[in-house]
Amino acid sequence: MKVLITGATGMLGCDLCKEFSVAGDVTGLARGNRETKQCRASQLLAADITDRDGVARIVRKAKPDLVINAAALADVDFCELNPEEAFRINAEGAKNVADAAEGAGALFIQIGTDYVFDGEKGSAYTEDDKPNPVSVYGFSKLAADDYVRSNIGKYAIVRSSWMFGPCGKNFVDLVIESARKGGSIKAVGEKFGNPTYTADLTKAISGLSAKIRQGIAPSGIYNVSNEGVCSRYELAKEISGLCGLNAEIVSITAKDAGGPALRPKLSALDNTKVSKVLGYKLRHYKEALNDYLKTIKRR
Ligand SMILES: NC(=O)c1ccc[n+]([C@@H]2O[C@H](COP(=O)([O-])OP(=O)(O)OC[C@H]3O[C@@H](n4cnc5c(N)ncnc54)[C@H](OP(=O)(O)O)[C@@H]3O)[C@@H](O)[C@H]2O)c1
Repeated sequence: MKVLITGATGMLGCDLCKEFSVAGDVTGLARGNRETKQCRASQLLAADITDRDGVARIVRKAKPDLVINAAALADVDFCELNPEEAFRINAEGAKNVADAAEGAGALFIQIGTDYVFDGEKGSAYTEDDKPNPVSVYGFSKLAADDYVRSNIGKYAIVRSSWMFGPCGKNFVDLVIESARKGGSIKAVGEKFGNPTYTADLTKAISGLSAKIRQGIAPSGIYNVSNEGVCSRYELAKEISGLCGLNAEIVSITAKDAGGPALRPKLSALDNTKVSKVLGYKLRHYKEALNDYLKTIKRR
């Protein structure tokens, strides 16, 4: 199977290249701003997803069976301050990749986010819940989801949340780094979501894409996150306990944390739909976190 993955040097994209290179020929696309040595793609090409013609040319030549768009401007606060750039990459860029995939007859997978929701539902969001973003990032990602749903034939929008993994700086790494430097760690205690390990997410994406390609599962939106809900404060406590860190962890409000973008209060995802397709539930985030910590200890 031939797979093309954008954002191939990003936290998720890099792990996707690893997962799909086990059984397929992977072409990775990256802008070239990051370290490439962890990327396991058979070939890594330079491309900006906002270059519509360039992306179409590469996809035509690669003739992939599956295209995954993991490229995005994922810094929520940066998006808030730079809305044009956010929409250019997260909405227009995604559209370019989706159209190129459709043109090549490939299955298209768009990586989506829990931040399309306002977090006011009071319980986990299903795929049928109506999005209502509270940030530029959320709006720009929702624009991509809406385009894909209306214009692409064979697709999955995989909505995930609060990722951690070995290929990118993430909250888990930041907690460990801050604790080692000494001093207290401040983490928001009033916003809740599902921390998700990229290794578990990529396995699920691999399983889901196979089912859609075989016609066993339909195109559509799929929530995919690890089980278990917590705040960043609770997550920091968990990390601290598992790593035996000796740092004081302080719960703060989102207002105290600063940052221009609003975040949803409770953006947990209900994974029932994907669990039925895969035949298993993703494990609890605490178990996944434990595995991740063992992996980074070995580095
Ligand atoms: N991180 C999370 O907690 C989280 C949660 C939910 C959903 N998501 C979604 O998951 C996906 C992956 O996120 P991530 O955390 O892996 O992000 P990331 O580590 O920041 O990686 C994003 C990748 O996109 C690339 N990229 C950005 N702009 C590009 C452009 N114009 N053309 C080509 N490539 C471009 C970046 O390359 P350069 O650095 O070289 O520019 C980078 O490789 C995104 O769709 C994000 O919205 C993330």
